[in-house]
Amino acid sequence: MSFDRSIKIAPSILSADFANFGAECRAIEAQGADWVHVDVMDGHFVPNITFGPATCAAIRPHIKGVMDVHLMIAPVDPYIEAFAKAGADIITAHVEAGPHIHRTMQAIRGAGAKAGVALNPATPAAAVEYLLDMVDLVCVMTVNPGFGGQKFIHSQVDKVRQLRAMIGDRPIHIEIDGGVDPTTAPLVASAGADVLVAGSAVFRGGSVSDPAPYGANIRAIRDAARA
Ligand code: DX5
Ligand code: ZN
Repeated sequence: MSFDRSIKIAPSILSADFANFGAECRAIEAQGADWVHVDVMDGHFVPNITFGPATCAAIRPHIKGVMDVHLMIAPVDPYIEAFAKAGADIITAHVEAGPHIHRTMQAIRGAGAKAGVALNPATPAAAVEYLLDMVDLVCVMTVNPGFGGQKFIHSQVDKVRQLRAMIGDRPIHIEIDGGVDPTTAPLVASAGADVLVAGSAVFRGGSVSDPAPYGANIRAIRDAARA
């Protein structure tokens, strides 16, 4: 994985057909997705449950590019090795998931993956200040984590701007997760974000048997972000 700040669209398979993850991953990549965003939820850190490392390992062979695994689980540390072995390129953990996020970032890199740290909407940018020399990605949650299809929280745009200034020249991606569509994408892109996660705005209107709408949706977000 080489570093660049061009806009990358990362469809979240939370909005895909759960009985068809392999075909859905192949379809979104064929339709122009840059990364595949994989949402892991435990029913404890967030009020919803998705799947774990076995599912990540099963879908890995169906993804040619970057598998971006977003852990909405607590605790995190006991599961890092399993997600790294499942083939995650990036493992992102929440700053709110426990008292030792610094150790968690060390453990992710130690397991051979890129390390991401995510911030819930109520968490200030300053929470990651002392992590910036040990992370590859900062994920700004623009909804409260747990569900797809929620409304974008506009106050987070200012947080993105602050993070962009804090990051300076460091090779760290700023990822946006939640409520991204062609209307909100330009707000976060101009504030300094480069990775745009989108679930409902990518998968709406399409399916594995009719994937062209995925491509049109991805292009619409990318074009809006670049404008
Ligand atoms: C929310 C997840 C997101 C979600 C985004 O907890 O982390 O990745 O799937 O969904 P949309 O794009 O529908 O807001
Ligand atoms: Zn996510």
